[in-house]
Amino acid sequence: MNILNSNKSEVLDKESLRQLEFIEKAKGYVEELKKELGRTPTACVVTFGCQMNARDSEKLVATLKLIGYEETESENADFVIYNTCTVRDNADQRVLGRLGACSSHKKKNPHMKIAICGCMMQEQSAVEKIQKSYRFVDLIFGTHNIYKFAELLCTSFESDRMIIDIWKETDKIVEDLPVLRKYPFKSGVNIMFGCNNFCTYCIVPYVRGRERSRSPKDIIRECEKLAKDGVKEVMLLGQNVNSYGLDFKEDDPNRISFPQLLDEVTKVEGIERVRFMTPHPKDLSDELIEVIAKNPKIARHIHLPLQSGSTEILRRMNRRYTKEAYLELVAKIRKRLPDVALTTDIIVGFPGETPADVDETIDVVKKASFDNAFTFIYSKRTGTPAAGFEDQVPEAEVKENFDRLLKVVQETARKTTEKYQGITASVLVEGVNEHDSSLLTGRLSNNTLVHFPGDEGLIGSFVDVKLTECHGFYFMGEKV
Ligand code: 5AD
Ligand code: SF4
Repeated sequence: MNILNSNKSEVLDKESLRQLEFIEKAKGYVEELKKELGRTPTACVVTFGCQMNARDSEKLVATLKLIGYEETESENADFVIYNTCTVRDNADQRVLGRLGACSSHKKKNPHMKIAICGCMMQEQSAVEKIQKSYRFVDLIFGTHNIYKFAELLCTSFESDRMIIDIWKETDKIVEDLPVLRKYPFKSGVNIMFGCNNFCTYCIVPYVRGRERSRSPKDIIRECEKLAKDGVKEVMLLGQNVNSYGLDFKEDDPNRISFPQLLDEVTKVEGIERVRFMTPHPKDLSDELIEVIAKNPKIARHIHLPLQSGSTEILRRMNRRYTKEAYLELVAKIRKRLPDVALTTDIIVGFPGETPADVDETIDVVKKASFDNAFTFIYSKRTGTPAAGFEDQVPEAEVKENFDRLLKVVQETARKTTEKYQGITASVLVEGVNEHDSSLLTGRLSNNTLVHFPGDEGLIGSFVDVKLTECHGFYFMGEKV
């Protein structure tokens, strides 16, 4: 296999060059604004949702900085952009709340520009709501055309109208756009976009479109560039990384499997740890387990969304595995990869879920001994099949089931995490502890959080730390 052999599409090269021209043009507009204001204008990017969105926001920040804005954390800025999530309704509500508050800033600062992008904007009803009730918004775009941000900014500078540009679908991947990482030493790397799985509760396939894989050559090139720039840990991102490459034709040299790609990324000089997110349990291969087992650079962590432990609910969710199949997979992973931490996502309150179904979920949590589990209350998403299912579960019953599950999740996580007590392991130091500045915070290869006394100079490096005190899902430690 020679992954450096494939050709990049010329069309896409042209597109990134085109956007660089818009960046140059936008610089002129920001320069004018700077003169008018008598200071450097500020920009704030607010991100909701998953790592994909976080990565997209790093691209937005880069463009804003390149054209002359100074980044700020405050939404009282000259440019505010909300990169939205719509996986659950509460994310939608939070954006609208923040947007409402932002309008008062705009009243005081008429130069202010407000933009919204991301998954929520791929839903027509959400865009209509903004058009109707949030007239002060300047720019709306979606997930498929985020690469056009510089161009859209120029259009917005040239017009007083609300600019709306939403695409239903795309088969394009635009490479080589500017990006500014939040952390100098670690980075997300998109390996694919979209999802073909259509779990019946999930809006993602509708707002992120069909699966499109980046070529291995482009991914490796990006990792090499990141490594040269000081990145030591990368996280390969996709909605279901197991289907990486399956959208390439069978005779395409780009068609390598996800485990092969993972292995290739670990060969990049300077990259010391590789994570990935998220594999779907229905197609996690033996090949992947073998590659992880043989390669110590691959993080000892698998996030394996369970969603439900009831085979009947899983069927209605279109997850395409049973309770037994999930537990068999966990057993296989635990046997071949005894040092891997397993985490999961669980939804409570899916239509038709009974307390007996939740008992099944609790049973899986106990048997799988998850290191951590993210528990969500089912949120009805308009347009998904489950939104039309009868027997939505009453709120009080959902709450009771949720609390019951959460208790077991916390007990299990503590018991599983406690097992690391006393070991010494390598921590990638991420920053100064938010609550106690004498402490540093970092993560083990298995993703466990560790706090330990140390000097700021260690941020971004790997340090051996002895885990001395377990506090549920995190550890206190001492540098050795
Ligand atoms: N309601 C609640 N949780 C959801 N998730 C996805 N869609 C929904 C929904 N409609 C959860 C799943 C997924 C995680 C990212 O979000 O558990 O794994
Ligand atoms: Fe949503 Fe299922 Fe795709 Fe994950 S695999 S993004 S839960 S449809």
